[in-house]
Amino acid sequence: AALALPVGDEALAARLVERLDRVEEALAGHVRSRAAFVTETASHLMEAGGKRFRPLLVLLAAEVGDRPDADEVITAACVVELTHLASLYHDDVMDEADLRRGADAAHTRWGNHVAILTGDFLFSKSSELTAELGADAVKIQAQTFTRLVEGQILETVAPQPGEDPLEHYLEVVAGKTGSLIATSARYGARFGGASREVEEALTAYGEIVGSAFQLSDDILDIASETDESGKTPGTDLREGVPTLPVLMAQASTDPADARLLELLAGDLTDDDRHAEALDLLRKHPALDEARAYVIARATEAKQHLAAVPEGSVRDALEAFADIVATRSS
Ligand code: FPP
Ligand code: MG
Ligand code: MG
Repeated sequence: AALALPVGDEALAARLVERLDRVEEALAGHVRSRAAFVTETASHLMEAGGKRFRPLLVLLAAEVGDRPDADEVITAACVVELTHLASLYHDDVMDEADLRRGADAAHTRWGNHVAILTGDFLFSKSSELTAELGADAVKIQAQTFTRLVEGQILETVAPQPGEDPLEHYLEVVAGKTGSLIATSARYGARFGGASREVEEALTAYGEIVGSAFQLSDDILDIASETDESGKTPGTDLREGVPTLPVLMAQASTDPADARLLELLAGDLTDDDRHAEALDLLRKHPALDEARAYVIARATEAKQHLAAVPEGSVRDALEAFADIVATRSS
């Protein structure tokens, strides 16, 4: 595998690549079913690509401890990727998204029932594997699932009267994405043999990096083209899912934004209105405002790395936070 992270220390980079290959090989086995059709649906998104961001974070966090090469570290990396994969099958049904990782979303090929059940299949595989890591890991996995689901449900409801829409949205983001990325860092630290203090610091780092990751994703929904992101641009916008740039644009009181605000308040499933809103958002200062916000979150995340000894592993964790904030795919 190629490393999607600038790592100056070549020996560290080589270790990470070697372990990512082990994760990949193990994942290929975990998505297999006794039923050939289920193997086909469950391996579909894994084979379509993906950045393996969560496994990489597990492996990186494990490098802070004294047994980064432990089998449990590889297992934990598989657990978080399988959970993530499961959530994507469900997410694309809920978002009515037709493209994922440059491939057909599962529901467009096999229908909603198969897509949802394949997500369930992958989540059970993940749970089965978590049991190998012990009761504490199972509990963490269950708590993470709770937060994922809560975040996803909150996304479907409007903020309470008096609640700040941005605050509401940040809570959604922390739940639906921050939680699993925080757990990736926690599992890596724990199974790699880091101290409890370092585990807590890396978990706090992961939580913020995870939110920043989702907020970057929000920006890409507006700013990127399909060939970069492997998704259809403006999907969140069409579905009426509030995202950071949209919330920031909606806070504008500039009369020049009247048309954009009118479009955002109306039906964006209409193709012409959707195209016009997307075009106006792409030129809007809210996009740069959102980017600056995400970079500030990455800076905040890096402050938690004070608990990690200085050196190439800490440098790589810093680089990880930086690329999350500035990613283009
Ligand atoms: C992607 O967000 C979705 C998530 C990060 C989490 C979705 C969580 C669930 C569906 C609940 C958990 C379910 C299981 C089976 C673990 P997005 O739609 O904003 O991003 P996208 O642009 O990648 O679609
Ligand atoms: Mg989605
Ligand atoms: Mg979604």
